[in-house]
Amino acid sequence: MFESLLITFHETLGAVLVIGIVLSLLWRLGRLKLRCAGVGDGTGIRRRRNLMPSLKHLVIILAAVSLIGCEGKKDQQEQKVLNIYSARHYGGDADLFGAFEKQTGIKVKVIEAKDGALRERIRREGKGCPADVLIMVDAGNLGMADRDGMFQPTQSAALIEALPENLRHPQGHWFGFGKRSRIIIYHPGRVKAAELPTYQGLTDPKWKGRIVIRSSSNIYNQSLLAAMVARYGEQEAEAWARGVVANMARSPQGNDRAQIKAVASGEADLAVVNHYYYAKMLASSDPAEVKAANAVAIHFPDQGTDGKGAHTNISGAGVLTHAPHPESARRFLEFMASPKGQQLFVSVSHEFPAAKGVDVSYPMFPPFKADILPVAKLAEHNPTAVKIFDRVGWR
Ligand SMILES: [Fe+2]
Repeated sequence: MFESLLITFHETLGAVLVIGIVLSLLWRLGRLKLRCAGVGDGTGIRRRRNLMPSLKHLVIILAAVSLIGCEGKKDQQEQKVLNIYSARHYGGDADLFGAFEKQTGIKVKVIEAKDGALRERIRREGKGCPADVLIMVDAGNLGMADRDGMFQPTQSAALIEALPENLRHPQGHWFGFGKRSRIIIYHPGRVKAAELPTYQGLTDPKWKGRIVIRSSSNIYNQSLLAAMVARYGEQEAEAWARGVVANMARSPQGNDRAQIKAVASGEADLAVVNHYYYAKMLASSDPAEVKAANAVAIHFPDQGTDGKGAHTNISGAGVLTHAPHPESARRFLEFMASPKGQQLFVSVSHEFPAAKGVDVSYPMFPPFKADILPVAKLAEHNPTAVKIFDRVGWR
């Protein structure tokens, strides 16, 4: 606070000195002209006046220029910092930040917390918020931050070029850097591959008492339902949610990993989870998670020629409204969209790259068709999805 007041004071002083000198020279010139015209001293005699600035003026000019120069340098140094608030919870993002620091010389400071906690913090800090970039998982979370006016638009030809239109906010408030699919996990001993359902097929009475899925307070489910609202309308989306509730094997509980464990243990035959949890469990240090993941199989729904593709969501980021270093922030977003940044961003989480032409694949996931519904729709229809969940009693 004190530092910024000092900077403002220096800048103002420099500007005032320059304006003062210019006015003083203009005034001298004006007087000289009058005298040359014989008006100033009443004699009518032409006099030569020295228009060159005096030594006093030269000293003042030099002082003003050096003050402004210092501020320019200080400005440049200030832009060499980037503060990030991140809700990513997959570990390993330090490599991404380290690579950006190395490439640009911009020092990165990160605070990690859950999406809701970060939004609350930004709200509380208001104009004094020191963060430049907010990274969140799920377009629904990014949309909530945006509805609260937390993002400023970022103009960047590089981002528009690299990232497909359906994976970013139409006015550049946020951008998707990693893609995730919400897929079906099944037990291969109790479910035949040929009978695997589409998303809409999850409401078929044949699955009664056989499906597990987490609670409706979870943003991943809210976005899945928001996609249904966007594509089929509120009524049909509500009928779908009601149908899934009717087929649940148990009242919603636990996280996505817990749903995979429920299928492995025989509590259910189908689960709906984000794809990367399956990969994380296969590579887990917990033998129970590895065992559970090995007992189930995965299915990317809606792959047929008529299918819209597996439900697609993002991890994304935007520049905050009161970002102290917006230039550093833009450079960081552009770095995340670059081939190197993409590799570092998605490989820790087993997400898929968002940028065009970047290929990162994983041995446990086959090639699949991804839904191209604009993820901004997931944010837009989130409030409707939340209301539907309440109405149908999805706990
Ligand atoms: Fe997650």
